[in-house]
Amino acid sequence: MEETKTQILDGKELSIRIKEEIANEVRQLTQRGLRPPHLAAILVGDDGASQTYVASKEKSSHEVGFTSSVYRLPANTSEADLLEVVNFLNADDETDGYIVQLPLPKQIDESHIIDAIHPDKDVDGFTAVNVGRMVTGQESFLPATPKGIVTLLQRYGIDTVGQHCVVVGRSNIVGTPLANLMSRNAAGANCTVTLCHSKTRSLAELTRQADILVVAIGKPEFVTADMVKPGAVVVDVGIHRVPDSSKKSGYRLIGDVKHSEVDPLCSWVTPVPGGVGPLTIVSLLQNTMQAYRKRIEAMSTN
Ligand code: GUN
Repeated sequence: MEETKTQILDGKELSIRIKEEIANEVRQLTQRGLRPPHLAAILVGDDGASQTYVASKEKSSHEVGFTSSVYRLPANTSEADLLEVVNFLNADDETDGYIVQLPLPKQIDESHIIDAIHPDKDVDGFTAVNVGRMVTGQESFLPATPKGIVTLLQRYGIDTVGQHCVVVGRSNIVGTPLANLMSRNAAGANCTVTLCHSKTRSLAELTRQADILVVAIGKPEFVTADMVKPGAVVVDVGIHRVPDSSKKSGYRLIGDVKHSEVDPLCSWVTPVPGGVGPLTIVSLLQNTMQAYRKRIEAMSTN
């Protein structure tokens, strides 16, 4: 078999560097007497993973000098009550951008909430307006995880032009927007893209053709060595908690890729944790900075 020396796409390390760049930008703004950017989050219910993600977004916001706020609502919140908070944030001059942490409790229709977010504050890039702008190549907020993956590949100098990128998973949050981004005629893209999903026939045959394989299917250790071409770049978006009594937390994190057998085959691979996750948060900070700049510009020309 072909000898490949596996290299790590270290999202943790890269995220620290990009956060320093953002922090410098914030310092320059505040030195000019401007207020720092403000990112808000709405968290409904007590899902453990969602609480961890929101806490992490808040911590990163403070690391770069943003201010932040979290609106915590009980699990039995009605759609109407959640819409009131969304409408408040849409109108709030102190809030540059905000996210509604998903998933939402089942009495709330996610699409009704996303439709109500003002596109100019939609730093997750989830609204139909921002998705439409992205697909037509207009300026928009790019969804955080796909944007983070593009950043990771670009900053590590991975050549994407003309490469076959196979994306496994077609969620609105990751797979579908990523397939669009990777096929664009833009820096860090220009791939030939195949988007695979639960109805795809002969999945392993397709994934084995990938120069760049992105796995966002939400199934622990789904991708095994027989599904990967030697020398491929493998990006693992999955993150799952599995019980592990040897850990202080009582669990460890695994991805959608079976790293013990896939990693030795790869030219480059993202670890779990410390791969895509930290870049997702960085993208959210970058989007908030973009929203802030737009608002400041709009205010100075009004
Ligand atoms: N739940 C899982 N990923 C995300 C994300 O990127 N944004 C929001 N708002 N919720 C999520």
